Amino acid sequence: ENNRIPMVAGNWKMNGDRYLVEQFSKGLKTQQLTCSVVICPPSVYLPLFSGHDFSLGAQNVSHLENGAHTGELSVAMLKEVGSSHVIVGHSERRESQQESSELVAKKAQQAVEHGLVPIICVGEPLDVREQQTVETYIAEQINALTDLLSVEALAQCVIAYEPIWAIGTGKTATPQQAQEVHAFIRRTLNEHAAGLGDGMRLLYGGSVKADNAKELFSQPDVDGGLIGGASLKLEDFIAICQAAN
Ligand code: G3P
Repeated sequence: ENNRIPMVAGNWKMNGDRYLVEQFSKGLKTQQLTCSVVICPPSVYLPLFSGHDFSLGAQNVSHLENGAHTGELSVAMLKEVGSSHVIVGHSERRESQQESSELVAKKAQQAVEHGLVPIICVGEPLDVREQQTVETYIAEQINALTDLLSVEALAQCVIAYEPIWAIGTGKTATPQQAQEVHAFIRRTLNEHAAGLGDGMRLLYGGSVKADNAKELFSQPDVDGGLIGGASLKLEDFIAICQAAN
């Protein structure tokens, strides 16, 4: 038993429209849920939510302050349009935008410093899993965070473990595989500062669906999930939130 409040976050990626915003605003009622619920739509939709009772997050943020950075969005801007959270270091961005672990750490640092909760993604590609070097790979991603952020800042962060081979593939990690890596991440954080890992929420992401969520979330070190595809369907997403209760 621990006193971490579970979290379920939906990552819409580059999907959704104003109708989906409206459907979730009206239909996703979280009063009966004990978990924190966060919806992360494309940032242009953030200001369109109204009457909702869940938290909002962006999917990326600049590590810089407002200024001459064409196409970027700052923490201050995201806060102004209603977000309290932000996903950083999603594997799709690490890959397509060549985001390094150092840059991801800077983004997390910028978020915490100005009052957004970063949901920091880590996770290995298939070849790393096959070569059984998962811990080394994840340690590099976590160490970049512990190198830059203070213990107080780290304590504000949420970490999402998303094995790349499980994202959008329908091939989820087994609950045991998820638990093993989550336990490793928590241990690594505890070794960095006593009790740090014990207080932080660690989410699993990668083909979480209504029918596998319960078993994944019931693992001792899995504190909820970061949901892609299934976060676009209101009913499925609600069922996943209920599985975190
Ligand atoms: O960030 C969530 C995501 O990468 C997982 O996507 O579609 O496998 O649930 P999906």
